[in-house]
Amino acid sequence: MSPMGASFALLVSSLLVGSPSAQPQPEVVHEWTFVDYVWPDEESRIEALQNGDYIPENCAITGLKVYNGDIFVTTPRWKPGVPAALSRVVDGVLAPYPRWELQEIGNCHAFQFVQSMEIDALGRMWIIDTGRAEGFNYSEPCPAKLRVWDIADERFIRMHEFPSSVVPPTNFLNDIVVDLTEEDAYAYITDANEAALIVYRYRRDESWVARHEVMLPTPGAETIIINGVEFSTNTAIDGIALWNSEQVYFCPLTSFELYSIPTEILRNETLATGNLDDYIIEHPQRPSQADGMVVVGDTLYFGSLAENAIYSYRVNNSYEMVARDDVTMEWVDTFAVSDGYLWFTTNRLHLFFLGQLAEDEPNFRIMRVPL
Ligand SMILES: *[C@@H]1O[C@H](CO)[C@@H](O)[C@H](O)[C@H]1NC(C)=O
Ligand SMILES: *[C@@H]1O[C@H](CO)[C@@H](O)[C@H](O)[C@H]1NC(C)=O
Ligand SMILES: *[C@@H]1O[C@H](CO)[C@@H](O)[C@H](O)[C@H]1NC(C)=O
Repeated sequence: MSPMGASFALLVSSLLVGSPSAQPQPEVVHEWTFVDYVWPDEESRIEALQNGDYIPENCAITGLKVYNGDIFVTTPRWKPGVPAALSRVVDGVLAPYPRWELQEIGNCHAFQFVQSMEIDALGRMWIIDTGRAEGFNYSEPCPAKLRVWDIADERFIRMHEFPSSVVPPTNFLNDIVVDLTEEDAYAYITDANEAALIVYRYRRDESWVARHEVMLPTPGAETIIINGVEFSTNTAIDGIALWNSEQVYFCPLTSFELYSIPTEILRNETLATGNLDDYIIEHPQRPSQADGMVVVGDTLYFGSLAENAIYSYRVNNSYEMVARDDVTMEWVDTFAVSDGYLWFTTNRLHLFFLGQLAEDEPNFRIMRVPL
């Protein structure tokens, strides 16, 4: 839309950086032109290809977490033909996780649309579900949910159906961080359609919603130019990261801004649902729009979409480019931290939505760089 947003991004980035400092370059752990799944048998795969339950070019990897050597990914159901919402990567193929029966579209006991999950220090996977797979005609959409899965025990230990006053059927639950406190646990979840920050309190199984105008898309930041391809989006609060159990960083995808808010405010329902003007902290503008974010120690990492790059940010310091690759790092999406590595997915989401994914070279990657 506004070419000013894009040229501004380029200007700022050229002021802020040059090229990444002499740091180890990211390595590709897995890459795919199109992903495939571990099917019960070859016949089910052929049948799914024939009846449209599996349309390879419609399956985009976004969410990523790594735990005890296992790599977990999500393939959101933005388009029809995505057979599983959540998987574990086994020999380069996506094994529906925890099992096939939990992937059934139209069955509200199963996953419908999972964009992200988080794994906490106690080995529990917190999985968000918008409640509706695109392209499926629900008689009634499933309620948006937060499920907590114990990885070692292989069982769900919590299933929270969000009230529609907190998460309406039109939601896009996008990303999640988990805050373990001494006596409780909280999840903070971005809703990119409703421009809202959802708070879930584990012990009392309650949720509430925080809103502020900075969670809306920033006018003028709609256009992203990636390797010469123009892509426009109008996406509200999306990336989220938790610093030291104290500050929740967030940003709309359509924005150059970065904000944070104290967890102390979000955990208090009265304060969180009130006027947040006095609590929101504005950080310096970033060089480009960003999708996922993560905090490691006291450093925030985020992708820089127009630059195929990753930046670091230490609170109250400047942004610094830590990695860039115009070939392998188109659309840095989600981050994970494990085994001394910063892991991330890159997925050419702009080409996915424009219907321009490559047929003969990798579109989707899982990468990592030593911390
Ligand atoms: C969806 O289902 C409803 C109710 O069964 C039906 O009236 C409607 O025509 C369906 N729409 C499509 C696009 O199939
Ligand atoms: C929430 O904040 C209000 C206003 O500061 C305070 O009165 C209240 O005690 C807090 N609630 C909790 C549970 O801490
Ligand atoms: C960052 O700067 C702000 C404004 O000067 C200050 O209030 C805040 O305490 C600083 N944060 C850190 C972590 O230094």
